[in-house]
Amino acid sequence: MIDIHCHILPDFDDGAASLEEALDMAQMAVYSGVTDIIATPHFRGEPDFLEQRQVIARHFQVLDAAIKQAEIPLRLHSGAEVLCLPETVELAVQHELPTLAGTNYVLTEFYFDESYAYMDETLAQIAHYGYKPVVAHPERYGVIQNDPRLLQRWVRLGYVLQLNKGSVLGAFGSRPEQAANEILGMGLAHLFASDAHSCHSRTPHMDALRHWVDEFCEPDYAAILLNRNPQRLLQDRPMVGMD
Ligand SMILES: [Fe+2]
Repeated sequence: MIDIHCHILPDFDDGAASLEEALDMAQMAVYSGVTDIIATPHFRGEPDFLEQRQVIARHFQVLDAAIKQAEIPLRLHSGAEVLCLPETVELAVQHELPTLAGTNYVLTEFYFDESYAYMDETLAQIAHYGYKPVVAHPERYGVIQNDPRLLQRWVRLGYVLQLNKGSVLGAFGSRPEQAANEILGMGLAHLFASDAHSCHSRTPHMDALRHWVDEFCEPDYAAILLNRNPQRLLQDRPMVGMD
């Protein structure tokens, strides 16, 4: 199993608080069948973005070396979760956006109360400059919770929709849970990820998610959400859907 969204890099954002916790998260993920994690620390396209990228690279190298030294059978890939601010578009123009594992996919997030028009325009700009947007946890945005059918347009445009493990397991309350169920019911979601932040809450352990998906999704869709599309993303290939 491949987890494409995980805040496992230590001492950088609100994810792993230490190298020890990052290693515990790596071990926990492996115990639940994860073979690959893309480390996706929060990234803001502000004026110090070059410095941010260098810090992320340093932290990545430290964790990658520690995972190998501890002989944890996990492949770590470098990535980021890009908070879409006006500066983000500037970085897209300059081809400076951090991507997922060296692919053309960019993991994007917005403020939870962001307008649909702003999200739609920003994603269009990112795509216009040659990137493939991955929308992290669309089920957590108020405007999408009010009308999940708004996501049909983004799927038509080729954007990738990534649901959070915690949303379907009820970790964020009833609104994201209900929206995630509606998105799955329409067959719009492409893949799941942990969006893990620690070993205690929002963890990288994937057993409960796998059981949930096996119980509530068709077998073909379950395989797409948990295995086929995460693998294809890592290979920079297009997503497959249910149609
Ligand atoms: Fe995240």
